[in-house]
Amino acid sequence: MSINSFILEAKNLGKVFSDSSGKLPAVNNISFSVSKGEFLCIVGPSGCGKTTILQLLAGLLDNTSGEILLGGKPLKGPHRDISVVFQKSNLMPWRSVLKNVLLPLQIYGTPAKEAKEKAGLYLEKVGLSEFANAYPKALSGGMEQRVAVARALVQNPRILLLDEPFGALDSFTREQLNLELLSLWRDQNITAIMVTHNIREAVLLADRVLVLSPRPASIYREIPVNLPRPRTGDIEYTREFVDLTYQIRKAIKA
Ligand SMILES: Nc1ncnc2c1ncn2[C@@H]1O[C@H](COP(=O)(O)OP(=O)(O)OP(=O)(O)O)[C@@H](O)[C@H]1O
Ligand SMILES: [Mg+2]
Repeated sequence: MSINSFILEAKNLGKVFSDSSGKLPAVNNISFSVSKGEFLCIVGPSGCGKTTILQLLAGLLDNTSGEILLGGKPLKGPHRDISVVFQKSNLMPWRSVLKNVLLPLQIYGTPAKEAKEKAGLYLEKVGLSEFANAYPKALSGGMEQRVAVARALVQNPRILLLDEPFGALDSFTREQLNLELLSLWRDQNITAIMVTHNIREAVLLADRVLVLSPRPASIYREIPVNLPRPRTGDIEYTREFVDLTYQIRKAIKA
């Protein structure tokens, strides 16, 4: 057992992309720890290295320096305890909604009956039971992302990574999905790490916000968000909320 309550730790994490045209440093010596059950948001300017950090944490990219610890043990690649929601849902168009949600369980060899029940349960959690047999092309953008969230949660990960998952949605749908995400996060007792460049979204969701520098990303500031929970959209009109968004905006511009 780990001696601390950190579920995920990045230690002096670095990533340099290399190709024939040269080397491009994307992440520069980043260290941070995430506690079990925390909701961490990572914000930063466009192109600073946010997606790269998330892909490193997901085990989808190899780091060039430092290390990532999952429950105190080095992360070597994709891990069942960690799942990801990307900006694009990446649903398979030839599979029904239910079969898209089933996919991770099939990959992990869950018995068919159990897998189907679980997939159905997670579709219910995102309010899409009625669309189980529909195909992705019949879904709105918001519904597609709900399916992507169900697909990410169905394997019972301990950590949910999100890369601007609702970035392509209109602001009303986006707020709705953020609030749904908050209640899933609470019910599932999961640890969430979301990358976004939307400051209001970060403050609405997070316990703590990391502000990144321009590329290569390093941690510029860490801002705790001590707003009460459960949160609703109305919180955005409070003085504390506005102060925090202002602080973060200033940090990003600095
Ligand atoms: N696979 C790759 N190979 C080479 N360079 C890459 C690769 N992925 C990202 N980069 C470069 O790394 C830098 C950081 O990219 P990244 O996508 O992590 O930024 P970001 O903060 O997520 O950007 P955005 O705000 O646009 O989402 C960019 O300069 C990008 O061109
Ligand atoms: Mg990105």
